[in-house]
Amino acid sequence: MSGPLISITAPRLAQPSVYTEGPTELRKATLRDIGPLLELINAYAAQGIMLPRTEFEMAENIRDFTVIYAGSRLVACAALHIYSPSAAEIRSLAVDPGWKKHGLGRKLLEAVEIEAREFGLKTLFAFTYVDGFFRKLGYDVVDRGELPLKAWKDCLRCPKFQACDEIAMLKHLG
Ligand SMILES: CC(C)(COP(=O)(O)OP(=O)(O)OC[C@H]1O[C@@H](n2cnc3c(N)ncnc32)[C@H](O)[C@@H]1OP(=O)(O)O)[C@@H](O)C(=O)NCCC(=O)NCCS
Repeated sequence: MSGPLISITAPRLAQPSVYTEGPTELRKATLRDIGPLLELINAYAAQGIMLPRTEFEMAENIRDFTVIYAGSRLVACAALHIYSPSAAEIRSLAVDPGWKKHGLGRKLLEAVEIEAREFGLKTLFAFTYVDGFFRKLGYDVVDRGELPLKAWKDCLRCPKFQACDEIAMLKHLG
């Protein structure tokens, strides 16, 4: 008999315990990232945690996105969506379930805040269910009436529009 019947391959990335460590690369997104971005965001959207995105929207807004890769796998993303000369929204913040609680969410948000400061933005806000995470990063709960009206445009097509339970959070950039 020649050669092994079973070949040993690297563990699948779908097993969370496998990828607790390892090099990650943070960078601005390109159009080539749209497929994996949609996979990550829309998996959470299917659970009602995030808004679903389409390929068209992603292409239109790709310059908003920052991504983190672990090897060839996209494991986290966040978007900085500017509404006015002073205010922007953090959108589509997502970390692959197997990579949660390893500091990637913080790393991303800090990178997006640096980008926001470079643009001269004064405030960042988010609509979220994970207020504990945003509190850790210096965001406070605000009345959604304080946010720019234009920020509501996504709400119009949200399935929860009539009964929104997301928390509005805001941070003043120093
Ligand atoms: C929310 C999310 C982005 C956090 O990413 P993460 O990589 O797990 O977060 P980090 O490991 O960077 O955590 C940073 C800090 O926040 C805390 N934290 C993380 N998730 C938290 C949560 N759900 N509630 C309270 N605190 C949380 C961590 O314990 C850590 O605190 P520490 O620095 O004192 O140890 C991630 O859980 C996720 O993708 N969730 C699903 C999608 C989602 O809800 N996105 C937000 C849309 S607005």
